[in-house]
Amino acid sequence: SRADERPQDCANGCDVGEQVRSLASEVEQAVSEAMAAALPTELADQDPLVRRSGHADFQSNIALSIARKAGQKPHDLAGQLRSRLAEVPWMKSVELSGPGFLNITLADTAIVNQLVQRSEQAKLGVQEGQRDQVVTVDYSAPNIAKEMHVGHLRSTLIGDALVRVLGFLGAEVIRQNHVGDWGTQFGMLIQYIFEHPEEGWRNTEVDQDGHEDATSAPDALYRAARAEFDADEAFKERAQRRVVALQSGDEETVTAWHDIVEESAAAFQKIYDRLGVLLDENDLAGESRYNPLLDDVVEELQRKGIVEESDGALVVFFDDILGPSGDRVPLLVRKRDGGYGYGATDLATIRYRLQDLKATRALYVVDARQAQHFDMIFRVARRAGWLTGQDVEHVQFGTVLGSDGKPFKTRSGGTVKLADLLDDALRRAREIVTEKEPDISAADLEDIAETASVGAVKYAELSTVRTKDYAFDVDRMVSFNGATGVYLQYMHTRIKSIQRKAVETGVGEARFDAGLALEPQERALSLLIDEFADTLEVVAKTLEPHRLAGYLYGLARAFSEFYEACPVLKADSDEVRASRLALCELTARTLAQGLDLLGTTAPERM
Ligand code: ARG
Repeated sequence: SRADERPQDCANGCDVGEQVRSLASEVEQAVSEAMAAALPTELADQDPLVRRSGHADFQSNIALSIARKAGQKPHDLAGQLRSRLAEVPWMKSVELSGPGFLNITLADTAIVNQLVQRSEQAKLGVQEGQRDQVVTVDYSAPNIAKEMHVGHLRSTLIGDALVRVLGFLGAEVIRQNHVGDWGTQFGMLIQYIFEHPEEGWRNTEVDQDGHEDATSAPDALYRAARAEFDADEAFKERAQRRVVALQSGDEETVTAWHDIVEESAAAFQKIYDRLGVLLDENDLAGESRYNPLLDDVVEELQRKGIVEESDGALVVFFDDILGPSGDRVPLLVRKRDGGYGYGATDLATIRYRLQDLKATRALYVVDARQAQHFDMIFRVARRAGWLTGQDVEHVQFGTVLGSDGKPFKTRSGGTVKLADLLDDALRRAREIVTEKEPDISAADLEDIAETASVGAVKYAELSTVRTKDYAFDVDRMVSFNGATGVYLQYMHTRIKSIQRKAVETGVGEARFDAGLALEPQERALSLLIDEFADTLEVVAKTLEPHRLAGYLYGLARAFSEFYEACPVLKADSDEVRASRLALCELTARTLAQGLDLLGTTAPERM
């Protein structure tokens, strides 16, 4: 049936530009304009407090919030605003409820026109609001010759999602994989390898799932070397001489170090490839890269009077950073023996990123336990005059727990290998896909199980509030029910299958029709699609991928409610069917784009 009411206007003046402003921001502007007409400037400039609502499309509580300051009764003020808003042609109704709420319902035409505009844009009308930004993202950053652990998994997945979202919004993003490839431990490791040439350390193994074993053999050697270092005084001395040899550029030693770094980095790369994260060898910017800068950085800090000597070491103190005993905790810049450590290196990273890479925003996606370290680094950067209004942030995250609620460890107390975790998820995914589709071919099963298991692990990570700890629970992650990656991927395949069926039966035309009235579920889905762009803005601002993850779950749910209530292929008329197919298509595009920004694929079938 055709809607009686067909306003000529639409929210965006029907001008199909690159960027499509969201209906929410259009409503905000309209309420602001009503406020400007009814109130003195200092009150009219406030946030109009527009939210989505269960009673109408949008609700504004502004009258309640400022009536007192305006010397009016909330109900009277709301009434004034209402009479202004009633003149806006793309609003169907503006109602007063309770003590002074404004309930705003948009014209169906305006909503459909909004979808038309979004559907015509390759990027769904998302504004590239980050175009003027240069953002360095320090993430993943595992340590060479050690196993990559679940903490690094969190950094890798959160960092990758932020890289994708910021890049999609037009920022120039520079990925920095700050691998731990330097330090005295390498002297020990190299000495051990030289003394035990028979203990080869290259990867040749293939695990039971047919994946080349991505665990780095150097990890085992590292543990053996550590044991010998602690037990054997003479070995310890030889190892220490090896550190000196490495630092002074001794060829044989440096070659061995290079080999180890390469081997480890290749093992990390296998994990990145398997996870489908963007990091590659060009993003490697490990600790060793900063060695040539350290003297100069420290010299600058000395010249500026920021570092001081303490017990022969160079440190920076902060009056309000105190240890448990009330003493000031220093940032160690140079050790007594003249060596540089983690602190000096990070001073170099921040100067380099702000001054050489010209970052307007420098992000460090690192475990929350390093909060104090980054607090210190940022403060020194400010004192040194490197930080002059750019945004630097420690994008912190919590700990991954086991099902026992304690930090995630293997039964023997060791680090859980990432590859094993992914294999676990893969096995579980195979099981549940087989349950759902017993006749699936082996090749399809492998394909789907791989996509589903990676998507599941990623979604579980990215749907969690980043600062919280969370329990790694493969069964929950790889489930078709609840807010899981598998559920979202599955909803995408359902939409795709509706579209395929439409084409097969010769009714594939998808076209929005602004003359049709919207069912409540259609309306809810449409308004949610329109929120995609605003959601990405929020992620860019808060650096919280869970907001996008939660949004996508809401979108999938809204689609499923729409599909239950509103027949698509069996719609009453050709117009309604075509319009609903267009809605299906736009939902699928939005879902796929959102999943892609979380680093996840949206399969056609599963
Ligand atoms: N490699 C470090 C670790 O495993 C993380 C490095 C983070 N980045 C940085 N610029 N400090 O804990």
